[in-house]
Order: sequence, then structure tokens, then C-alpha cells
Amino acid sequence: MSKNLYIKTFGCQMNERDSEIMEQMLAQEGYVPAASPEGADVVLINTCSIREKAEQKVFSLLGQLREEKARNPSLLLGVTGCVAQQEGERIRERMPHVDLIVGTQQIYQLPEMLARLTQGMTTRETATDLEGSFAIPPFQKLLINTPPSPAPHSFRRFVTIMQGCNNYCSYCVVPGTRGREISRPVADIMEEVEILVSQGVKEITLLGQNVNSYGKTNKVADTEVDFPQLLRQVALVNGLRRLRFTTSHPKDLSEALMRCFAEIDILCPHFHLPVQSGSNAVLQRMNRKYTVENYLEKVASLRRLCPDIALATDIIVGFPGETEADFQATMDLLQTVRFHGSFSFKYSDRPHTRSAEFSDKIPEEVKARRLMEFQSLQDSISLERNSESIGREVEVMVESGEGNRLRGRTPANQIVHFTAAPASSLIPGTLARVQIDHAGKHSLKGTLRN
Ligand code: 5AD
Ligand code: SF4
Repeated sequence: MSKNLYIKTFGCQMNERDSEIMEQMLAQEGYVPAASPEGADVVLINTCSIREKAEQKVFSLLGQLREEKARNPSLLLGVTGCVAQQEGERIRERMPHVDLIVGTQQIYQLPEMLARLTQGMTTRETATDLEGSFAIPPFQKLLINTPPSPAPHSFRRFVTIMQGCNNYCSYCVVPGTRGREISRPVADIMEEVEILVSQGVKEITLLGQNVNSYGKTNKVADTEVDFPQLLRQVALVNGLRRLRFTTSHPKDLSEALMRCFAEIDILCPHFHLPVQSGSNAVLQRMNRKYTVENYLEKVASLRRLCPDIALATDIIVGFPGETEADFQATMDLLQTVRFHGSFSFKYSDRPHTRSAEFSDKIPEEVKARRLMEFQSLQDSISLERNSESIGREVEVMVESGEGNRLRGRTPANQIVHFTAAPASSLIPGTLARVQIDHAGKHSLKGTLRN
């Protein structure tokens, strides 16, 4: 008999990919995805601890699930991901109804852990070792044996190329939750990409905390291939129409990688390059190892090589000691680069990070005001950037649609809503030519050409 599995994913694309892997692994054990936790046999919360708010959301959801567990005592409740890694057994001090705690590198053990719980061999399971190993064998077999789920986005998939991070930005919890950097062997990556493309996947995003150092730090296998070379190899897979990657650290952004944007046809001209602050003093305390000037030089080179490139970034406001002048420098940087989009956050202290110990913490109301100012400037710039597309014909990869109303994405990652003749055969993954008639700050509108 099939059992129902509900997974709630918080956080980044790494976590989304891990959730897919868990779903695929458990599908082989007879679990089918459920749309809600009500009545499910297993509920997994795949968690993020990057900011305080992200972690609070996890605990508030776990609190709500206490009632569901009371209604349905056979429900197994698990916590996976970064909060599980960071807190381990401590989660049960606040949430004693949690049955299962699985750290970021132990998800491959999930089927056995669940089997022990369902067979009553144990009543609590915890696995949080962080060994810096990729646990490749089951991972790989899994992908070979399991076709992509018929999810609406199955034309588009993530492929993990590395795990962990060695950078130790002073505010960041990731080295603690994901461990040291380790690169996956090229042969495994290529095999996974080829399988996915042969199953109809049209767009692949290569994932790592810092893809620029792929192959340079710890390796599972003896690869001499660096990230630009890996991109070129993946781009050669026949049938793949779009290639993306995330995330990059500006200090490791090489000329060779920049040239990829000019030279690889299917590499989308969209680049997420987190800058974090426009003040050199703050960047130094963040341990980012570049200056604003270095960053701007890289932006200029990228734009020389690929004039259409859309740049996106991450910003933290209210880092300890951030003065009004430091914040203004971040606003100036935004004006100078005119990012197409950004993710911006109020600084929060995280466990075991250096900045948590810094003095001169910024009051909440100052952080909130700075965040609002930053986001309102970004919104107006995003609108201007999007307006540049009005009147242009762009290539859109269809994502979803109902009747004659469709939704897709440009190579620059802008969302496009457009209309097509009823019953046109634009299934997800198809490339269409769309004339842009209207721009908003978060999306474009247009009409199908063909
Ligand atoms: N406080 C606020 N934002 C943070 N980020 C990472 N750590 C923190 C923190 N302690 C942001 C950075 C990073 C993004 C994923 O989250 O901008 O790039
Ligand atoms: Fe969150 Fe970072 Fe963990 Fe991703 S790696 S889930 S962003 S803490």
C-alpha cells in the first residue's frame, strides 16, 4: 500500500534539489507526494538557517504540526537540512514531537531511518555527521533509475556540482551547516545531465555554494577540470537548450568564466553575483576578500564581453558597525551597477559566526529603514531595466499555461506573461518568440510571434 509523503522546503535551490532527491528516494519505497501535511504518513521539513527569520519559520511550522501529530499519532515528523545540521538533538528540547533529525550530508540514510521507525525498531532517529563526503553511490543510482517526477517544471532541473563552502564570510552559517567545499566528479555530473536531457529536460542549472572554485578545492575524484571547462562540456550535450549556474563569489570570478558568457550559446546571460555591501570597510569586516573597485572592474569586464548580461545580487543591510555613510555607499553601488534585481536582507546574528561576536549592532528600526530604502530604489531600477525590453522580441521558454494565457522566462530570467492562440501546442519547455508590450518591476507582458 502506498504511503503519503509531504515535504516542505525552505531556503535555497540546494535545499530544493535535496527535497527532490528525498522524494525520489522515498518514491522507491512506495511513498507518493501529498499536497498537505493533513493525513500524511510522513512529513519532512527541509530547513534553512541562513537568517534568524528563516529559522523562526521552521520552529513555528514545527509548533503547528504538534496538533496534526496529536490528531494522527502514527504520523512521522522529520527535520532535515540546515537547522537539523546546526541544532541536531537540541531541536527536541523545544519540539519533543519530532521523530527524525537528518543533517545535510545524511539524507541518503533517510529510507533506512524511516524503515526502522515504521517497523517500530526505534522511536527516534538522528543522523547529523558532517564528513565532507558526497555519498555518491545511492545518489547516482537513484537518478538513473527514477524518471523525473511529472512536476510542472520537469523541463527544468538542478544538478548539484559541489557541496559546502570554504569562504567563511563572517556572517554566514553555511560552512557550519554544509561543511567544507567538495567537488563532484565530472563523469557523474555529465552522466546525470545526459540522463536528464534524454528524458526531455531542456534547461539545467548547475548548483554549488561557490561554483567558481569547482575542482579547485577538495575533490571526490581526480578531476583537473575547472568550472569554465565544466560549463563547456555540459553545454555540448545535445538537446539541452538553456544552461545556468548559481552561486558565484566575486573574488573567484575569472576571465575564463566571463568569456563563457560570450562564447557559450546556451549559457543564459543572467548572472547572480552577490556583492553584500558597497562599503570597503564593511566588506572587510564581512571577510569578503574583494573591494568595491574590484567588483566594479569585474562588472565592467562582464558587460564588455556580454553587453546583454542581466546582473543580480544579494545585499545585507545593517551589518554590525554599518554607518549611514557605509549604507549610502551601498545605495551608490546600486545606482552605479543598476542591478536587474537583488535579494536584500537585514543582518541577523547566526550561531557560531564571527560577526555574532562583533560590537556595534545596528538597531532593528535602522535596519528596517535601510532595507526599505534599498528595496524601493531597487524596485524603480528593476522597472527601468524591464522597460528596456518593451518593443523587443525575446526568446521565452514556456513554463506553464492555461488556455491562451502562458507564462515563461527570458534568457535574462525575467518572467513573461503572454497570450497565444487557443490550443496552440506550447507545452512547458518549448521556446517561443514573444513581443514585449508592457513591463512591471517583477515581470513582463507580451504577445506571441511566430
Ligand atoms: N544575516 C542576513 N543575511 C544573510 N545572508 C547570509 N547570512 C546572513 C545573515 N547572517 C544573506 C547573504 C547571502 C544570502 C543567501 O543571504 O546576502 O548571499
Ligand atoms: Fe539556507 Fe544556506 Fe542552508 Fe541553503 S545552504 S538552506 S541558504 S542555510
